[in-house]
Amino acid sequence: MRVRVLGSAAGGGFPQWNCGCGNCAGARRGDQALHARTQESIAVSGDGESWFLINCSPEIRAQIEAFPALWPRQPRHSPIAGIILTNGDLDHCLGLLSLRESHPLVVYATEAVRAGFTEDNVLYRTLARFPGQVTWRRLELDREQTLGDGAGGGGARLAVSAVPAPGKRPLHLEATRAASAEDNVGLVIRDQHSGARLAYFSGLAGPSPAVERAVADLGAGALFFDGTFWSSDELIAAGLGTRRAVEMAHWPIGGPEGSLGFLARARAQRRILIHVNNTNPILRADGPERRALAAAGVEVAADGLELTL
Ligand code: MLT
Ligand code: MN
Ligand code: ZN
Repeated sequence: MRVRVLGSAAGGGFPQWNCGCGNCAGARRGDQALHARTQESIAVSGDGESWFLINCSPEIRAQIEAFPALWPRQPRHSPIAGIILTNGDLDHCLGLLSLRESHPLVVYATEAVRAGFTEDNVLYRTLARFPGQVTWRRLELDREQTLGDGAGGGGARLAVSAVPAPGKRPLHLEATRAASAEDNVGLVIRDQHSGARLAYFSGLAGPSPAVERAVADLGAGALFFDGTFWSSDELIAAGLGTRRAVEMAHWPIGGPEGSLGFLARARAQRRILIHVNNTNPILRADGPERRALAAAGVEVAADGLELTL
């Protein structure tokens, strides 16, 4: 299984357009310890030919152009065989609307995420201009399904399971939709030929038995994990927001209750933080937080990082 990080930042990217915090200002100044990042998405392939995206960020066009494996091989073609959504947050699905140039898309999502994106959304009509423009494949919780159909570009080599993950509805649906266990999922992708596994939890409010089971023994595989905030009051302390990490459904990394202890114990060859917010001190390659991660064997995703599992 090949994995490529297309984007590693949380919503807003790094630097964020309206942010002048120390990290964002440093990245703009060219501080060598701070590297710009686009919004979170990865690409996964079993055969190196057809690729599945996990999440589709607002920066998908530039992300595709930055990775030749995703370029067309014929006058009209895309190696992207499907897109898997972990939730309905705009940083995860707004890019779908940018893939509207009359190309059939296959999107894997829970029913709650599909309904949240398609219903009452006048912009969705741009993806419904011809029959079959979008094929939705339903992710059911805890049921593994093969990705692709093997018919010319699916591969049918990778399988996905959606794991219910503590999280929340997208901000724009909080007032109009009831909460559901399908609002936010993690994914386990398994290579049915090699047995390699990838677990992907880029948005997670905290631990749960289902999450613990999913990451219990990934062996030589990789775990991508919510790296949004280092501390619970990160935005409040910086004067940039009013909500604590947990209110935003993100488990902070540091502190006595942080995810770092959990990650240090997780059995996976690679443990990689992704969806990193621009305020997070782990963005500094030379900071004490980054040294604490290194001591625990935990990495920070960067755009362009590639793994072979
Ligand atoms: C999140 O990760 O919590 C969301 O992307 C927030 C948002 O939609 O702005
Ligand atoms: Mn987000
Ligand atoms: Zn900032």
